[in-house]
Formats: sequence, C-alpha cells, structure tokens
Amino acid sequence: MLIDMANVKKSYATGTVITEVLKGIGMKLDKGEIGVILGPSGSGKSTLMNILGGIDRADSGRVFVDGIELGRLNDDQLTEYRRHDIGFVFQFYNLVPNLTAVENVEVVSNIGKSPLDTDEVLAAVGMKDKKHRFPRELSGGEQQRVSIARAIVKNPKLLLCDEPTGALDFHTSRSILQLLQRVNRTYGTTILMITHNAAIAAMANRVFKVRSGEIADQSVNPNPVPAERIEW
Ligand SMILES: Nc1ncnc2c1ncn2[C@@H]1O[C@H](COP(=O)(O)OP(=O)(O)OP(=O)(O)O)[C@@H](O)[C@H]1O
Ligand SMILES: [Mg+2]
Repeated sequence: MLIDMANVKKSYATGTVITEVLKGIGMKLDKGEIGVILGPSGSGKSTLMNILGGIDRADSGRVFVDGIELGRLNDDQLTEYRRHDIGFVFQFYNLVPNLTAVENVEVVSNIGKSPLDTDEVLAAVGMKDKKHRFPRELSGGEQQRVSIARAIVKNPKLLLCDEPTGALDFHTSRSILQLLQRVNRTYGTTILMITHNAAIAAMANRVFKVRSGEIADQSVNPNPVPAERIEW
C-alpha cells in the first residue's frame, strides 16, 4: 500500500467562519498504481493532495505514505519528505522563468537522494532537443513536459498531479497523459492525478469521486486503457 488514509479531516478558518473542507476522507492506493480523483470545484481535491504531499497537515485522521505516518513528522521531517519522496505537477507548470529547461530539472535533481539522470528524463519527456530553452520559449505542453521531468527526476515514491492537463488542448493533453502512463510503467512511480475530465478516469487503476469533502464513490478499473485511446 503506498497511500493509506483514514478519516482525514481538515477545516479552514476565514475570520470567524470555520469551513470543514475534508470530512473524514479514507482512500488507499497500491504501489505502482495510477489513481484519479474527480470532483466538482471546491470539493476539497487540492486540499487532499496538499496533505498527501506534505504541503499542508490534516487536523485529524491518519495519513500513511509508504509506511510513513505524516502526522507524526515534525516540520523539518515533513520538508524532507516533500523534497525526497514527492513529485508535484501543477496545472500552470510553475517553472522558474530565468532558468532553462535543463536547469529547471537540475535544480531538483541536486536535492534528490537517488536522482535519475537529467538527460535521460528530458529524453523520456521528449524535451532533450529543447533543453536549453527558457520556459517563455516553450509551448504550454512543452512547459508541462519539463515540469513533469522536474517532478520525476528525483525518482519520487509518489507523483501528485493537480490538473496537469487543465490548461492544455486535447491533443497536447493526451500526449501528457501518455507520458504519465509511460513514467508509471518505466519507473514504477505511483501516480495520483486530479482532473475535471471524467474521460481520463479510464486510464486509472482506481477512481475516487470527491464531493463536499467526502469520497462519494470509488471504483477499481481492472483494465486501464492506454492513454492514446482516450477521447473527449
Ligand atoms: N488556505 C485556505 N483557507 C481557507 N479556505 C480554503 C483554503 N484552501 C482551500 N480552501 C477552501 O476549501 C475548499 C476546497 O478547496 P480545494 O482547493 O481543495 O478545492 P478543489 O476541489 O481543489 O477545487 P478546484 O477544482 O476548483 O481546484 C474551497 O471552498 C476553498 O475555498
Ligand atoms: Mg484544486
């Protein structure tokens, strides 16, 4: 089991109003699997992912990632966990603008415990030829490829993707999904991906539907389809 969460709750206080954003989430994902989280805007998907990634903390409940109980880590340990064990891919790439593609990836590989080879990873995402370009000289899909390279170069246990195709057109999205599937197969990386697009669920081993801070439905997909066959 790579992810094992039980009864996770999280509230945010804005002024005097307290909103319960996660109301007792339980989910499990096996090592090497791809999980997809679906759910409406504001339902708590990113909050859930930020807790798994050590960016935020649960108020209560248990969160285990690869046997590590995140709630028991102090702030320094949580930072180490986030650095070494987690790769994050965001909707809007978040590359450093004044570093080239290869430099964006190297910055991260330098802090990893057992980093992959930078050139190998850039080749795997199809960006070796453009590795000396700055982010502004790349298309959105190319920038997302670099940000995936940056997330996987440290060989993370868990790759968390928060709407990785949210800003991309159909064809570019599909090639990014193919790339994520290839990363999953090549490196055995466990992937958890948030999307608004229900069609993407077809490539997952497990699908979680979040509604108002709860898992409203979850299903196992015995035959995930290759990303190149997904249509929407
Ligand atoms: N730091 C915060 N302080 C206060 N409220 C927050 C904070 N972060 C999130 N929220 C609230 O928690 C709820 C869930 O937010 P979250 O970002 O997890 O939703 P989401 O499912 O990812 O939505 P979207 O699909 O729009 O990205 C929202 O109502 C949001 O306003
Ligand atoms: Mg979100």
